Amino acid sequence: CITCIVDLKMNFVKKLAESPDLNSIPSIYAYSTNPNESSVSDPQDSIPVVDFSLLMSHDPVLQSQVIQKLGNACKDWGFFQVINHGVPETLMKMVIEKSNEFFNLTDEEKKDFEEKDVLDPIRYGTSFNSKKDKVFCWRDFLKVIVNPEFHSPNKPVGFSEVLFEYSKRTREVAKGLLNGISRSLGLDQSCIEKSLNLESGLQILVVNLYPPCPQPELAIGIPPHSDHGLLTLLINNGVCGLQIKRNGKWINVNDTLPNSFLVNTADHLEIFSNGKYKSVEHRAVVNNSVTRISVVVANGPSLDTVVRPAYELVDDERFPAVFVPMKYKDYLEMQQGNQIDGKTCLDRVR
Ligand code: SIN
Ligand code: FE2
Repeated sequence: CITCIVDLKMNFVKKLAESPDLNSIPSIYAYSTNPNESSVSDPQDSIPVVDFSLLMSHDPVLQSQVIQKLGNACKDWGFFQVINHGVPETLMKMVIEKSNEFFNLTDEEKKDFEEKDVLDPIRYGTSFNSKKDKVFCWRDFLKVIVNPEFHSPNKPVGFSEVLFEYSKRTREVAKGLLNGISRSLGLDQSCIEKSLNLESGLQILVVNLYPPCPQPELAIGIPPHSDHGLLTLLINNGVCGLQIKRNGKWINVNDTLPNSFLVNTADHLEIFSNGKYKSVEHRAVVNNSVTRISVVVANGPSLDTVVRPAYELVDDERFPAVFVPMKYKDYLEMQQGNQIDGKTCLDRVR
């Protein structure tokens, strides 16, 4: 209707889900899955586990074993669980708790953070790109750029301190993993760190909130996509909803180990490894009873880095470069400024 079109106020799903008589979803949220790939099953084998403390150990045998495991996980799955990472459990719990408090602030209190531009350092929004999406995602989000410059909403009380500590600690874990991944590719341990300027690397923390949905089978939390950047670290509030595409099928991620990070390889690691490590498509589905919250930290190169396959991994005859060089910032604007759609963004730099 015309009033809806001219009404530019953002329609958050949390608010919609709280309306007392909601028993069906508005048609803008009706999502149809691709019938060829709608089958969902539980994984036959479980997501590989990487013990971070072994990666940091001074025992060369243990270290090379875990590096091999890490490399295999990147190659075979593109997803792995990281245990013994040293990030305190209390901090992980606080991030979820404070994020939830953020969404519980009044509309008035959150208004200042509403998104205007895709590269704004703090963006509170809904769906994926509400200006472009034809079908809306059953999801509200808060995206915050936490490195190289730290940003945070100034409410609720204590949120910014928790985000600061959490982003610093997850950056250390990401760096340790990327050093191991460098070695697993046969490169120097600091190769990724140096060539992609991790010190000033872009780190974005995204909180996803998926409220209960009266018709969960008709809606989608976030449609199939792969992540920009190098490595994504995910935690959630214990509610399932993430699915990953494996061998052409969607599988549920049900049980992850307590206090672990679920980590996935992202597009720029696929580019840098010249396709050896693939970024894997995933999506989030919703349920009709409980709110799901996930906190995702995307760790990428610095914004002005031009990312291309590592020259050590390119051989014009045997392994020609599969991707063309592109500045990370341009890639990010391309991905965030459009509808989200599988690996189409990555396909554009092939
Ligand atoms: C995402 O891919 O950004 C979100 C995944 C999730 O909520 O589990
Ligand atoms: Fe993702």
